[in-house]
Amino acid sequence: MLMTTMNQHIQHPVIDDRMTRLRQRDCPTSEFRTYVREIAQLMVPAVTENMFTLPVEVETPLEITTGRKLEREIVLVPILRAGLGMLEGFLNLLPDASVAHIGMERDEETLQPRSYYFKAPTVIGDADVIVLDPMLATGGSASAAISELKNNGAKHIRFVCLVAAPEGVQTMNSAHPDVPIYYPALDSRLNEQGYILPGLGDAGDRIFGTVHP
Ligand code: PRP
Ligand code: URA
Repeated sequence: MLMTTMNQHIQHPVIDDRMTRLRQRDCPTSEFRTYVREIAQLMVPAVTENMFTLPVEVETPLEITTGRKLEREIVLVPILRAGLGMLEGFLNLLPDASVAHIGMERDEETLQPRSYYFKAPTVIGDADVIVLDPMLATGGSASAAISELKNNGAKHIRFVCLVAAPEGVQTMNSAHPDVPIYYPALDSRLNEQGYILPGLGDAGDRIFGTVHP
């Protein structure tokens, strides 16, 4: 029987504040990048809260006691390009994580994803894998990226975005019911070009300044 892992709508006043600034059409590239990084970092505690830990002996300056350490290695997977904007926020709190890269580009006409790059560390099969992409629109890119990760051995996967569309959540939950989705905003729908409404526009272009409004 297929189990659907619970998605999580992460709600926090500071995240809500940053999300609103991010959505503003006149938010400059430098601020946009900062907010994406900050929101990603603020999401880390919720995204990692059910990770397994193991007891470990620790010698303090005064005596020996028992602490805990994360059981699995962590692999962060930004989906290029826009996922790169979230990477630093995650690495700030998870500096020992290794990083896999997946290049995925959505065809503007068909909205189908095209994979153009894949490189992952060998530990991926035993690791907690956190896939990063600010936008979950049709869900095609995230779904294809996660299939590629599974084909390369990944088993414990979670997906983190900033804005999710209901269509994308549905696609992901049926294609990958074992992968929980974490998002601070669930928007209302997609337009005819596959953009999320109200959304924030093209995340990659806004992070990297490739289009000037
Ligand atoms: C955007 C976004 C996601 C994808 C979401 O990337 O960062 O990867 O679209 O759309 P989907 O859920 O309908 O697949 P895009 O293909 O524009 O590439 P970019 O990050 O290089 O701009
Ligand atoms: N990709 C984006 O960057 N924005 C959207 O709204 C949809 C897909």
